[in-house]
Amino acid sequence: MSKMTLRPATLEDSELIFSWRNSELVRRQSFNPQIMHFENHQAWFEKSLQNKNRFILIAELHKEPLGVFRLDTLTNNEVSLFLNPSVIGKGYGESLLEAGITWIRENLPHISHLEAKVMPTNIASTKIFEKQGFIKKFISYEKVIDNKERLL
Ligand SMILES: CC(C)(COP(=O)(O)OP(=O)(O)OC[C@H]1O[C@@H](n2cnc3c(N)ncnc32)[C@H](O)[C@@H]1OP(=O)(O)O)[C@@H](O)C(=O)NCCC(=O)NCCS
Repeated sequence: MSKMTLRPATLEDSELIFSWRNSELVRRQSFNPQIMHFENHQAWFEKSLQNKNRFILIAELHKEPLGVFRLDTLTNNEVSLFLNPSVIGKGYGESLLEAGITWIRENLPHISHLEAKVMPTNIASTKIFEKQGFIKKFISYEKVIDNKERLL
C-alpha cells in the first residue's frame, strides 16, 4: 500500500485549496463558515507562503492530492487539517494528522507541543485528534446577547 506523503504547498495549489476550503463539508466544520472569495483567499495564500511562521502542506496519495495540513507557530503551534471533500468520511483523516505530526518532528524538531481547535460538533475531528494523543484542554462557551438585552 502506498504511503501518504506531505510536501510544502506552492502557488499552484491555490485553486485546489480554495475549492476544498469552500466546499460545504469543510465550511460546516470551520470557525468561519462563510464562502470565501477567490481574491481574499489568494491574498491570504500568497502571504501565507511568505510567512515563516506558517507551514501549509499538501498530502498526496498515489501522487493525487488528498488533503491540507497547516501549522501556525505564532499561535501556540496550532495545527489544522482538511481532506479533499470527495474522500471525507473514508478514514484518511487520522493518517493525514499522523503524517503532519511526523513532518513536524522531522522538520521542526524544536517543536514539542501542538494545539488544535475543534468544533464540539466535529466528531470525526475530535476522534482523530484524541487517537493521535491530543488531550482536551478546555471547553469554551459563547452567548450572543441581542441589542435589547445589552441596553438594559
Ligand atoms: C476531520 C477530518 C480530517 C477527519 O477525517 P475522516 O477521514 O473524514 O474521518 P473518519 O471518517 O475516519 O472519522 C474519524 C472517526 O470518527 C468517527 N465518526 C465520524 N463521524 C461520526 C459521527 N457522526 N458519529 C460517531 N462517530 C463518527 C468515524 O467512525 C471514525 O472512527 P474510527 O476511527 O473509530 O473508525 C475530515 O472529516 C475533514 O477534512 N473534515 C472537514 C474539515 C475538518 O473538520 N477539519 C478539522 C478541523 S481542525
